[in-house]
Amino acid sequence: MAQIAKGLEGVVVADTALSHIDGERGRLIYCGYDIGDLAAHATFEEVAYLLWHGHLPNRAELAEFTGEMARYRTLPPAVVEVIRVLPDSAEPLEVLRTAVSAFAAALDFKGHPSVTHAMALTGSMPSIMATFDRLRRGLPPVPPRADLSHASNYLYMLTGEVPSEQRARALETYLVLTADHGLNASTFTARVIASTLSDMGSAIVGAIGALKGPLHGGAPALVLDMLRAIGKPENAEAWLKAVLDRGERIMGFGHRVYRTEDPRARVLRALAERTSEIEFFKLALHVEDVALRLLHERKPERRIYTNVEFYSAAVLHGVGLPDDLFTPTFAISRVAGWTAHVIEQLKDNRLIRPDAEYVGPMNLTFVPLDQR
Ligand code: ACO
Repeated sequence: MAQIAKGLEGVVVADTALSHIDGERGRLIYCGYDIGDLAAHATFEEVAYLLWHGHLPNRAELAEFTGEMARYRTLPPAVVEVIRVLPDSAEPLEVLRTAVSAFAAALDFKGHPSVTHAMALTGSMPSIMATFDRLRRGLPPVPPRADLSHASNYLYMLTGEVPSEQRARALETYLVLTADHGLNASTFTARVIASTLSDMGSAIVGAIGALKGPLHGGAPALVLDMLRAIGKPENAEAWLKAVLDRGERIMGFGHRVYRTEDPRARVLRALAERTSEIEFFKLALHVEDVALRLLHERKPERRIYTNVEFYSAAVLHGVGLPDDLFTPTFAISRVAGWTAHVIEQLKDNRLIRPDAEYVGPMNLTFVPLDQR
């Protein structure tokens, strides 16, 4: 019987020049650049360009590119209509998944997935989420502004007010940090879909579906729920012990690849200190300390550390996003990586089609329906 790598852990299924994760040393590289440098100095637009073209843009390239991507901030009327008719009970990520599908259909995304498709999807997703959020609050959508950055315009369309430089930069840093991350579940999904020679819209809709689960992108709002439920530092120990005693997971900790601290968590912790209320930040710090101690005591061999989601929650909350827009905002960033992977997959494509070991019964005799 073939050896099965459950969850494909450690199985290499693609070459990529997009991002490299060194799980032992806690390093993340995009196209050769350390994530710490990009987080400190680059805009989201520069990082998207880097992922799609393999090099950082010069000033002229960046100006042309940002102008072009900003054109897609205005949604086709059919997409706004789709958002309008979805029931109020729909989850934001369901709305995003559906509206992205409608957007790709409205723009007639036929043919080979391209950087234009990548720009269109990336440019449109903040508008989709902001339109949805405004409509559900009974407010008219705010038309996008082409003179604002990607991050700033997203906050502007949500609130109708141009955000402070500090708030926009905090969100932008989050978007830079989460734009790509190797062959995570949603990126793999996008590559599988691309490998069938399907279109860019389908690949991104599939990726959004994969991101939705709490083991992948669904954790940051759950982190916030956890911090609120704990309420104050002195409750942390008992609360977290109870979670582990029930055999449940502490949200915001653990990672398939990192065996040390996630470098994104380090940047986000510093950012959270600047963006969140001091009492809330102190609570998060304390909960992190206790959780790490308990996890290391109970599962020393697992080397479980803080993951990107833990402080994402504090940062996204700090910039004023509603809790249920945290995971869609992750998608708004990761779409840069998803689309880059689709383009990369098609440069040297082979249908991704693994095997399964059959473990079911054999040689059963078929029994006609009325005799069962
Ligand atoms: N809390 C408690 N125990 C944990 C945690 C956690 N956060 N993370 C891992 N473990 C334990 C598991 O119970 C398991 O123990 P066992 O072998 O005794 O059963 C062991 O560590 C290994 O866990 P796996 O699920 O096999 O590890 P995997 O690599 O599949 O998991 C994952 C990674 C899914 C992120 C996991 O750590 C987890 O569930 N974390 C909590 C949810 C979370 O924070 N999700 C966001 C992930 S980041 C992202 O996707 C962007």
